[in-house]
Amino acid sequence: MAEEAVLRYLEKNEEISDSGKFAEDRGLSHDDILNIIKSLNGFRLVDAQDIKKERWVLTDEGKKYAEAGSPEVQLFLAIPAEGIAREDLQKKLESSIFKIGSQQAIKNKWIEMGKSQVSRKVQQVEDKIKILLLQIQNGEAVSSEDIDALKRRKLITQQIWKGYSVRKGPKYAPKRKKAATDLTRENIQRGDWKELEFKEYNFSAKGQPLEGGHLHPLLKVRRQVQMIFLQMGFEEMPTNNFVESSFWNFDALFQPQQHPARDSHDTFFLKEPSTTKILPEDYVERVKEVHENGGYGSRGYGYEWKREEANKNLLRTHTTAVSSRMLYLLAQKPFAPKKYYSIDRVFRNEAVDRTHLAEFHQIEGVMCDRGLALSDLIGVLHEFFSRLGMSKLRFKPAYNPYTEPSMEIFSYHEGFKKWVEVGNSGMFRPEMLQPMGLPEDVQVIAWGLSLERPTMILYGIDNIRDLFGHKVDLGLIKRNPVCRLGLQYMDSA
Ligand code: PHE
Repeated sequence: MAEEAVLRYLEKNEEISDSGKFAEDRGLSHDDILNIIKSLNGFRLVDAQDIKKERWVLTDEGKKYAEAGSPEVQLFLAIPAEGIAREDLQKKLESSIFKIGSQQAIKNKWIEMGKSQVSRKVQQVEDKIKILLLQIQNGEAVSSEDIDALKRRKLITQQIWKGYSVRKGPKYAPKRKKAATDLTRENIQRGDWKELEFKEYNFSAKGQPLEGGHLHPLLKVRRQVQMIFLQMGFEEMPTNNFVESSFWNFDALFQPQQHPARDSHDTFFLKEPSTTKILPEDYVERVKEVHENGGYGSRGYGYEWKREEANKNLLRTHTTAVSSRMLYLLAQKPFAPKKYYSIDRVFRNEAVDRTHLAEFHQIEGVMCDRGLALSDLIGVLHEFFSRLGMSKLRFKPAYNPYTEPSMEIFSYHEGFKKWVEVGNSGMFRPEMLQPMGLPEDVQVIAWGLSLERPTMILYGIDNIRDLFGHKVDLGLIKRNPVCRLGLQYMDSA
């Protein structure tokens, strides 16, 4: 109906100068006309120009007074010629009408309001407010002082009215052909495809959002780090045991049994099963010996090593527990150089805050070969971290029970404009490697870092609880972008 009206009108007339008036004259809804014009304009059948008009409309309060009269007149009319007690007048009127009405009527000098008595000061009044409101309602012109007065009393507000003026467009036709969106088998059989007008492709239309699985940012970054290790020739270590014995997590790493990290304040110990059943006995003997008395050029710690302490089960506190198992296994075969990595979860009994959780993920790299030196470690760290996008590195001497020398790794963060700690590293001590049975000239270099840290930096997350745990916004998981770290080295995976 509306479409036909617009197109037919333009067949004989130059222009629809005002879509609002056009709709009103024909008893059509202006919204319908607007939608039709938009669509016809999109297909270039018509050429539409915006028109904007500012106009005044009545507020709800204004509408009430336009009907029932202004409060001041209502109040005036409620006062009889002989006057009325204030209380009685109040009872006759709505409280807002009484309040506003008396203010205005006093201002207009229409009434006299004494302490107890109210009386008229004039015989008659004219309801100018009501007249003005009705004029505005009918779209008649009103002086600017009157507009200001009504505006101040919040009886009218400005409304921006939008419409169009419309002329024929380049593709004008008195009737729109419905554009075909598909070429069907029937079109071809009937031959009517020759007459059909096809809808043009809209290449900028958004596709349907895909519903499907989404990868968590940690998984994306883990995948990228994994690719870096694989491209550098590293093999993945089996990390599928969150529960570990103290022996592999600490003792095998030459971490003394009194070390504070072995306290329940730092480590989660298991109640059930509380101890491990199987450990390689001859190796356990050599570990006990090196802790107590040393060997391989070491003096040891000189304390009484307890088997019960080593048997205690715990949730592994670092992935170096996995590395110690792997190195022990490696030592049981004729030696061959190896490069291993792992990325998995570890647990620490820590107070949770914006950068710490009681569980997180560690990334660990381990290289074993004859004659490796600290320079090899520094070299491989430069290679690894530059692939992660961190090419400016600095090292700071540090201490780990199982490495000597040990180095903390710092990287210059271009965004934060400062050096940030990104990992820890070192050369495994002979006290750790020799009891395993590795040849004397075999050195092992290793480093570790958290997965969460680079993920938070990459995705601009500053509270770890927004990344991991029950408070995570599922929207983050759905909408987080592709991980671009080290993209230059990536294949299409
Ligand atoms: N295990 C260390 C940590 O938890 C990291 C590390 C791994 C240090 C390997 C040196 C060698 O911080």
